[in-house]
Amino acid sequence: MGSVTRKPLIAGNWKMNLDHLQAVAFVQKLHWTLKDAAHETDSVEVAVFPPFTDIRTVQTLIDADKIPFALGAQDVSTKDSGAYTGEVSGAFLKKLDVDYVIIGHSERREYHGETDEVVAAKVQAALRHGLVPVVCVGETLEQREESGPTAVSVAQLRAALEGVPSDADVVVAYEPVWAIGTGQVASPEQAQEVCAALRTVISESLGDSAGERTRILYGGSVKSGNIASFMREPDVDGALVGGASLLADEFAAIIRYQKHVGV
Ligand code: PGA
Repeated sequence: MGSVTRKPLIAGNWKMNLDHLQAVAFVQKLHWTLKDAAHETDSVEVAVFPPFTDIRTVQTLIDADKIPFALGAQDVSTKDSGAYTGEVSGAFLKKLDVDYVIIGHSERREYHGETDEVVAAKVQAALRHGLVPVVCVGETLEQREESGPTAVSVAQLRAALEGVPSDADVVVAYEPVWAIGTGQVASPEQAQEVCAALRTVISESLGDSAGERTRILYGGSVKSGNIASFMREPDVDGALVGGASLLADEFAAIIRYQKHVGV
């Protein structure tokens, strides 16, 4: 679609794994692995999403060693400050040079009851603080059988983009719930079908230029062996990787997907 080039983004969602000491060792190892492989850092953007307690440490390391990784958080509060025990403000994340924040991951929707309204409020909170929201959408198997492959993701994204200005920088991640952590991966064609529908939603909600420039990631059991097939699809601009982002060699191989034939 269009003439705008969208820089691929490979994002590692660590979920509740790796403490801050393990995070340091991991980021160093990933960096060295990519360096040893003479990976061209300009070709793909790499982002890591550690737990909150690791962010300061990872930020310091990335900064000191000039490691070309973007930094993300896994959630953000709808509120900016005040009596909200346990919440983390986007303002605090911004102070730590956090670039991205995952919003509406299916695990938060499922285990923390996050509704489309909460997700939309978090998107607004991220944008207020200059953080790029990585808006996650995706259907369960039952929903896919009931209403088809695109309906749930389309509705979730429409709700999340409510009130977002047309020049906002956002990333969208299509993560079919049935493919997360299950090893049951969507086919590239299935991913493409939903990602194309999501691009239409972005164009309708934020305008054609946003539709063309906004990156849409696929997530759900991404591995080094299947990443290239997703990246060949015209509306897939990257991946949100869970389990495989915790293994430095495997994650490095995913980042280096362009070395695989035909991409
Ligand atoms: P997975 O997780 O790669 O382990 O399936 C993806 C995600 O939940 O972001």
